[in-house]
Amino acid sequence: MVSVGETALELRRVAKRYADIVAVDYIDLDVKYGEILGLLGPNGSGKSTTLKMILGLIKPDSGSVNVLGIKAGDDPVAVKRQVGYVPESPRLYEFLTGLEYLDFVGDIYGLDASEKKARIEEYLEAMELEGREGDMISSYSQGMKQKIALISAFLHKPKLLLLDEPLSGLDPRSARIVKDFLRKLTAQGVTTIMSTHILEIAQAMSDRIAIMYEGRLLALGTMKELSQKARLPESDLEDIFLKLTGTEDVREVVEALLK
Ligand SMILES: Nc1ncnc2c1ncn2[C@@H]1O[C@H](COP(=O)(O)OP(=O)(O)OP(=O)(O)O)[C@@H](O)[C@H]1O
Ligand SMILES: [Mg+2]
Repeated sequence: MVSVGETALELRRVAKRYADIVAVDYIDLDVKYGEILGLLGPNGSGKSTTLKMILGLIKPDSGSVNVLGIKAGDDPVAVKRQVGYVPESPRLYEFLTGLEYLDFVGDIYGLDASEKKARIEEYLEAMELEGREGDMISSYSQGMKQKIALISAFLHKPKLLLLDEPLSGLDPRSARIVKDFLRKLTAQGVTTIMSTHILEIAQAMSDRIAIMYEGRLLALGTMKELSQKARLPESDLEDIFLKLTGTEDVREVVEALLK
């Protein structure tokens, strides 16, 4: 059982650099069970690197990562068992069919055969992929591949979901299906950290929003808290984002182009 309200994830002074590039610059972050955290930030601001360090794919240069009560490095398999991850460009085994791939993923997680079959059927139906599960992944559209990647992250019923732009490539209807699905999981206490460039999605779905900029965590809070910090009461997330990241001039450029 997970306990809503308790800390699911704790990052302390986590940093990562690549030669002279600072990818993540000493960030602190606490996320509670059942929370959806939206991770926003310009390209190259460190979102994907942060997600990879939480999962344990990349080792931080310094600082500590505690995931679901497990200190990173102590038991990487136990962490991966309880975490679902969708990378920004998922690589699937294209020569397998969707069904074969999901079956394979279910086996990796050691799911019981009948449970695996039932979950795969349920999720294929939910994602409206029924009828295409027997086709090779190489023949799928980008959105269909993304849906398979999402199902493979949900399959073992993880307690923590790390989703790197989960709605990319999805049409509005499919995005809606995934959003509803995430809400259902959240109601069951699943914690989600989701990076996105779609500000409306971050705004509509997240309990709190973290804005990264040049590896730093520039702001973290509810929409209300962020508006207060940006001194932009009742403004939407785009205004806040542009103000906090100091890139308001983007708007001037866009407006000039639209004239
Ligand atoms: N394997 C790597 N080798 C060298 N530099 C890297 C590597 N991975 C990331 N970086 C650098 O670290 C910084 C942060 O990258 P990251 O992928 O975390 O950004 P991001 O916020 O996910 O960006 P995007 O919105 O484009 O996905 C960038 O400057 C990037 O070039
Ligand atoms: Mg990224």
